Parts: sequence; C-alpha cells; structure tokens
Amino acid sequence: MAKLKILKIGDETLRKVSRPVDNITPRVLTLLDDMVETMRAANGAGLAAPQVGVLRRIVVVETEEDGLFQLINPKIIAYSGEQESEEGCLSVPGRFGITRRPMHVTVRALNRKGETVDITASGFLAKAFCHELDHLDGKLYVDCAIKMDNDM
Ligand code: NI
Repeated sequence: MAKLKILKIGDETLRKVSRPVDNITPRVLTLLDDMVETMRAANGAGLAAPQVGVLRRIVVVETEEDGLFQLINPKIIAYSGEQESEEGCLSVPGRFGITRRPMHVTVRALNRKGETVDITASGFLAKAFCHELDHLDGKLYVDCAIKMDNDM
C-alpha cells in the first residue's frame, strides 16, 4: 500500500467531474487500498479519488461506529430530513464550516467484488457520504456551506 498526496483547494482537478469505473481491475483495488491508507494517515473520515488526483467515481468513508465503506460508482438514491452541522475536508486543511445536508441517505454503489450494495445512513455518516459524493462532481463543501469559520 502507498500513501498518496492529497490535493488542496485551488487545484483544478478537484473541480472536475469524475468518470464511472467500468471494470473493477486490480488497479482499482490498489487505489482503494491506497485511499484507505491515505485517509487513515490524515485522520480523515472520508476521501474521494479526485482528492488524490484520480478522476474516477470512487470513495472511501470510515467511522468508528459504522466501520469502513469502499464504494465504486456511488449514487444517492434516496434522502430525507435535514441536519445543520460542522464539516471539514482534507483538501481544505485547517478550516471548517456549517453545512445543511440530508439527515438520512441511501447510497447505491458497487463494492470491491462488483456487487451492488445499498447503504442507509443517518447523521454523521449520511453527511460524510454526501460530502464525498460531491467531490465526484467537482464540488467542495465550501461551495454549499451556510457559514465558514472566518464568519463565526
Ligand atoms: Ni472532502
């Protein structure tokens, strides 16, 4: 496994739309492994492939409570409710903001074996999925933050 460099806000790659994964090749699995290692080394709760310079629809999310998710071509297929809470991003170091996100989401994705999985999440995990999936469309939480730390 290898620790990858995390791109920071201002890098154009973070603003691009990522392409779906057609085949789960060994290269994709290695990327997932490296993303998990990179996320953990940075003490993050999630990481999306464009943050490490790969414009593919791949994310990893990990929380103590819910464990590790490694998702390929993830999509939000249902959402409900609302939460306002603090959010940060490994690509926006040292900053935080308040966002408004759904309280509950269901994400459909492929797992490492290429099986379709539906994951229903609430609270922090729901927010984390929304945040990471936004990265795949070139969006950062600072775009939708209703308040940033320097306004507080
Ligand atoms: Ni982020």
